[in-house]
Parts: sequence; structure tokens; C-alpha cells
Amino acid sequence: MTQDELKALVGQAALQYVVGGEIVGVGTGSTVNKFIDALATIKSSIPGAVSSSVASTERLKALGIPVFDANDVGEIAVYIDGADEIDARGNMIKGGGAALTREKIVAAQSRRFICIADESKLVEALGRFPVPVEVIPMASQRVIRQFQAMGGQARVRLKDGQPLVTDNGQHILDVSGLSITEPLQFESDVNQWPGVVTVGVFAHQKAAVCLLGTTSGVKTLAF
Ligand code: 5RP
Repeated sequence: MTQDELKALVGQAALQYVVGGEIVGVGTGSTVNKFIDALATIKSSIPGAVSSSVASTERLKALGIPVFDANDVGEIAVYIDGADEIDARGNMIKGGGAALTREKIVAAQSRRFICIADESKLVEALGRFPVPVEVIPMASQRVIRQFQAMGGQARVRLKDGQPLVTDNGQHILDVSGLSITEPLQFESDVNQWPGVVTVGVFAHQKAAVCLLGTTSGVKTLAF
């Protein structure tokens, strides 16, 4: 099975977690795109979605799924999103698609985080995938030095040779060389640094369930 097929498999499997009559939280990325396509087949059973990015909003709307502003809805029953890495306790690295800040906001507003991922994303310890960190541009170099002081190498993410600008008008640093043995502490610490908008470690908003696409089918991990 190709990686694309594994993504489609978990995107489809996530439909079982969508609560009829309730708004669903929708993440961002190629795996979530498969979920959005599957969601379109049951769209009449839900009022709509709260989205974590401009890209997901456009895809949802194109498929006729209404998109609500997070401020106009209360608690969301489930949030469905992918991950760049997930460990055996449900902690994740996210932000490969630069949507980490809105992803964390919608995840925090939701009762349960259902992670959908192919099996390549399951790791023993977080940190092989460079940790995305959304920063206020004027703080970039200072935050890069702070990561250097803790043994990491951070660089500004580029797009077409220029710093990538997020949906929130900020920049992304990708930080490699970190060993994240205490994800909760790491997330809390880095979030305190001046100029950091969001760190892409999701330990405070970790997954409740992970639907893992494997060559032998969907494996469900509950945390
Ligand atoms: C976007 C994310 C994505 O969930 C993550 O990058 C996984 O993406 P994909 O499903 O394309 O592998 O955090 O900011």
C-alpha cells in the first residue's frame, strides 16, 4: 500500500469519530485532506466544521461543508488532525504544514484529539522531525540563539527563497538536534520565550486516540 493509500485509509476511518449533529474540528495537511474528502460524503449529518488553516477552509468550502469561526462556537466534540511525529503516549510534533498555532487553538477548544497518521509517524521519542516554532519575525534570531544554547540548530523556514509567512502573518523556525525527553516541560518552557507564538510540540493538547495506517489495516492506539 502506498503512503497516499494509508492516508486515505485513516482519513476514512476517522469518520467513525465524527459526532452527528455536532461541529467537527478539522486540522491541516495531506492526511487531513483525505479526511475532508471523506467528510464530504456525510456532510448532511453535521452543521459544519471549525478549520485550522486557510488551506483546509478552502477545501472544506469547495466541498460544500460550512466553516464556522472558532469564536462563534463553544466546545467542539472532536478535533481530527495529522502529525509529523507521535510517540507511544500521544505526544506529537506538528507544524510541518505551518498551521500549528491554529491547530493548537482548535485542539484546545475540543474535547478529544483524534490523530490520523501513517505508520511512519510513530516514534519512540520526539525530535527526529525538526520542531516547527511559529515566531514573531523580530524575535527570530534571538530565539535561534536560545535553541543553539540548548544544543539545537534552528533555521527560518523559506518559501521561494523568502521566509514563509503563516496564516497569522508570522514566521516559522525549524529546530533540529533536540532530544525531547519531557515534552510537557519542553512545550511549557519554549512557549514562555518572548516572541514565540507557538511551539509545535503538542503535549498539553496531545492525542486521545491515534488511527495509524499500516499495511495490515488501521491500528487504533488509545492514550
Ligand atoms: C500541519 C501539520 C500536519 O498535521 C502535519 O504536518 C502532518 O501532515 P501530513 O498529513 O501532510 O503528513 O501539523 O501544520
